[in-house]
Amino acid sequence: MKLLVSGLTGQLGSGLVEAVPSELVELVPLVRPLASRDGAARLRAAFPTSPELAARVIEGDVTRPHWGLDAATIRQLAIGIDGVLNLAGETNWAAGRRELDATNVRGAVNGYELTRALEAASGARKLYCHVSSIHAAGGMTGRVPETPFEADERRTPYELSKWLGEVALLGRAERQDAPSLCIARVGGLLGSSATGVTRRRNSLYMLADRVDGLPFGILPISRSGRVDMLPRDVAARLLIDALLALHATPPEAPQIIHVCAGESAPTTDAVLRALASLDEGHRAGRLRALRVPTRGIVMATQQLPRYQHLARTWHNALIGLRYLTFERTFERSRLAALVSETLPVATIEQLIRLAFELPAPRVLPTHDDLSLARFAR
Ligand SMILES: NC(=O)c1ccc[n+]([C@@H]2O[C@H](COP(=O)([O-])OP(=O)(O)OC[C@H]3O[C@@H](n4cnc5c(N)ncnc54)[C@H](OP(=O)(O)O)[C@@H]3O)[C@@H](O)[C@H]2O)c1
Repeated sequence: MKLLVSGLTGQLGSGLVEAVPSELVELVPLVRPLASRDGAARLRAAFPTSPELAARVIEGDVTRPHWGLDAATIRQLAIGIDGVLNLAGETNWAAGRRELDATNVRGAVNGYELTRALEAASGARKLYCHVSSIHAAGGMTGRVPETPFEADERRTPYELSKWLGEVALLGRAERQDAPSLCIARVGGLLGSSATGVTRRRNSLYMLADRVDGLPFGILPISRSGRVDMLPRDVAARLLIDALLALHATPPEAPQIIHVCAGESAPTTDAVLRALASLDEGHRAGRLRALRVPTRGIVMATQQLPRYQHLARTWHNALIGLRYLTFERTFERSRLAALVSETLPVATIEQLIRLAFELPAPRVLPTHDDLSLARFAR
């Protein structure tokens, strides 16, 4: 399978390069140039052991129509490409509506229209996979199915932009002769399961980074939130396996899948208890949970930034509390039906060791509600 991929320089993109054998999937990266470096130079710097990526690079910007590709480039690409995978996203939860919507809504739609143009140029069916987020669920709790989400006033601007991206794509997919659509809602991403290398962006990393600044080490959370995260390479491999299945049997109707830890995601309580035992005597192990109702966290994360200027890092950390708070389980049955292997299970020790960068212990502690797997270093 040959895929045009945006967002390869990000956390999930790095996981894709780490986890997906080039014999299985050929990646054609779409990268935006920076002032001082072109796309090829950026890819050489990001992936020094995969020089073929820089050699194949196409420069573009997802906020532009057809991601900035001209008709000649589209015609050239159309011949061999099987699909388009949109990993590009504005992932700064504290960003403004304009930036969030430009990438997460307009960028998503531009990718779909680009796929349509590739179909028109080749006369062959193509797949468009847009990576959304489980956080598009807003304030939903309980079991969260792999189906379209309803409007929800409790969404943050980031969550709203991810949801609006989904709504816009699902609307377009209803038209006649529309390209096949897959919306992959990805869960939180940890660093590589093999090396621990990461881009520090998500709730657990933000907590890990801010532990020293929490007054008296107190962490306000609700009782039974779940921490739904997978290492980036594990999530990327899962996503690609699903896309291979969809490529083999193109779907008639849009597919929504949850690429996340699902029912194996541990509770925040369990994570904090395991953290205390694994990080005994150190800063993170001294965290104390202050129980607050979910409603309080939802209100604080929505309202506080409106009335109080928060530094970007604290703003992100505040929003990150939501993703340690919601008592919900993301269903993975549609994903399971697509991929042949057993779905990956989140292990609490790996989660903690990756996020808090703890060294592997000589003797593993035991824990009541989780099977602990040794952290691969
Ligand atoms: N990380 C998580 O925990 C998480 C959880 C759930 C869902 N997701 C979703 O998964 C996707 C990937 O996330 P990530 O963590 O890999 O994000 P990331 O590390 O922030 O990387 C974002 C990627 O998007 C690219 N990008 C942004 N704006 C672009 C534009 N206008 N044109 C072209 N490329 C652009 C960036 O390129 P540059 O290098 O040029 O900036 C970068 O490669 C996003 O849609 C995100 O919402 C992530």
